[in-house]
Amino acid sequence: MRLPLLTVLGLALLAACAEKDKAVEHAESAAPIAAAEPAIDPVTGLKMTGDWEVVRGNCTACHSAMLITQQRGTAEQWLAMIRWMQKKQNLWQFDPGTEGRIIAYLAENYPPAAASRRAAIPQDLMPANSYSTNN
Ligand code: HEC
Repeated sequence: MRLPLLTVLGLALLAACAEKDKAVEHAESAAPIAAAEPAIDPVTGLKMTGDWEVVRGNCTACHSAMLITQQRGTAEQWLAMIRWMQKKQNLWQFDPGTEGRIIAYLAENYPPAAASRRAAIPQDLMPANSYSTNN
């Protein structure tokens, strides 16, 4: 009589543990989906979203991806950088589809940053320059 009761308790405990593991697994898999920002590839530093693997495959052979991630630009500006590398740095030609995907990824994930410097103060609002000779 004792042994079967222990067995039942043991099985119940095992079942409870399995349920708990499932719950933990679920919570972990839900986390990245909830995050607004894409994860960063620990090797290249590229944002792991969209066609990032196309960029990794074509843009990290000659230099670190840091050159890319610290750069910002519109689609036109990114294309100009690619054309410059093709002309001056031996970067190969891309088929139009691949080039389009690279540009789209770059322009979307590394767009021009908001201006970080204030605009210059107009001359007439500046204090008099005591060193100037044409006062
Ligand atoms: C064939 C070699 C090669 C490949 C492949 C390559 N680049 Fe470059 N890239 C260079 C060289 C060389 C430089 C200049 C490095 C320096 O100034 O130290 C450079 C510089 C850059 C810069 C800095 C430009 C600046 O104005 O400072 C960016 C951004 C860049 N590359 C992005 C890319 C992207 C995006 C790709 C993929 C489409 C790519 N590179 C693929 C050779 C390459």
